[in-house]
Amino acid sequence: MSNPGIIFRRYKPGDEEGIASLLNSSFESFREYGITKESWLEYGKIDEGFKPGNAIVAEYDGRIIGHVHIVNRKIKIGDNKYVDIGGIANVSTLPEMRGKGVGTKLMMNAIEYCLNEGFPLSGLFTGYGSAAHRMYRRVGYEDTFLYSVFLGTIDEMKRVKDNCGRVENVIVRHYENGDEEKLLKTYLEWGRPYTGLVERSIEYWRKKLVERSAVHTFFYGEFDPEEVFITMEEGEITGYAYITLCKRKKVPFKTPETGVIRELVFKPGCLKSLVSLIDAIMDYFLSEDVKLCEVASPID
Ligand SMILES: CC(C)(COP(=O)(O)OP(=O)(O)OC[C@H]1O[C@@H](n2cnc3c(N)ncnc32)[C@H](O)[C@@H]1OP(=O)(O)O)[C@@H](O)C(=O)NCCC(=O)NCCS
Repeated sequence: MSNPGIIFRRYKPGDEEGIASLLNSSFESFREYGITKESWLEYGKIDEGFKPGNAIVAEYDGRIIGHVHIVNRKIKIGDNKYVDIGGIANVSTLPEMRGKGVGTKLMMNAIEYCLNEGFPLSGLFTGYGSAAHRMYRRVGYEDTFLYSVFLGTIDEMKRVKDNCGRVENVIVRHYENGDEEKLLKTYLEWGRPYTGLVERSIEYWRKKLVERSAVHTFFYGEFDPEEVFITMEEGEITGYAYITLCKRKKVPFKTPETGVIRELVFKPGCLKSLVSLIDAIMDYFLSEDVKLCEVASPID
């Protein structure tokens, strides 16, 4: 489809206001928080893979009507090799300009960018069966894995807790200063069998998971050590979980009674630690009057 009068080009300083406004009109979650040009630019300081210059915009009549961002990541392939990947983020077209091929053209530009940069891979997340999902498939992306969000009520949390039973020789505690290097090591050990694990540096960990608490892309809450559960066996960290109590943080589309398990990681073979983590989290959720427990998990 041709797009007469629409210019596709790379970001230039000054575009951030138009991009923030477009994101607000395209995504309910961004609208909920109210993304600004400042928060968009600020993100580049927190995430080294996010460079404003790697955004591509569609401009019509001097207005930004479409946008895609290519975020640099490294993912693990096979045993222990990490390769660069062009992560496609925040693809959006102004509502009144949709259905004219702008999104597809943005994606073609993003793919060209990835090829020029020499990225061996490009990837993205999207909702299964959405208009965007069809568009991505049409330009060549394929489904590699699916995940589902599981919800548990109070009764189910209690049942899970009952099934955990008593585990000996595992200590559960919250985050303490200086834990991050060991948490990162645990993450890497846990991810060893998986292809597709996203590489994290210690700076990434500190900036996103210790100095602040990631809630949704550009938005953060204050870091609370109580949100991190850590298991130890024989003096070694063997697992951890990051959780969010929605009554303490504004999380779009979730009621304040929700407790979210954001990340649950344990060293291979340390099943006692996994059971202890789940047991401790259920205890905590129930004591904090959580009525709905949420956890996302890949579908086998
Ligand atoms: C996804 C999105 C970027 C597509 O942009 P677009 O400029 O309409 O893209 P295209 O014109 O190339 O069409 C892509 C698909 O959207 C469909 N579409 C057309 N008009 C539409 C409209 N008014 N509203 C929603 N989707 C529409 C098209 O039919 C096409 O799907 P199909 O060919 O399988 O039927 C746009 O719908 C959008 O900004 N959505 C909100 C943000 C979002 O969800 N982004 C994806 C995050 S993973």
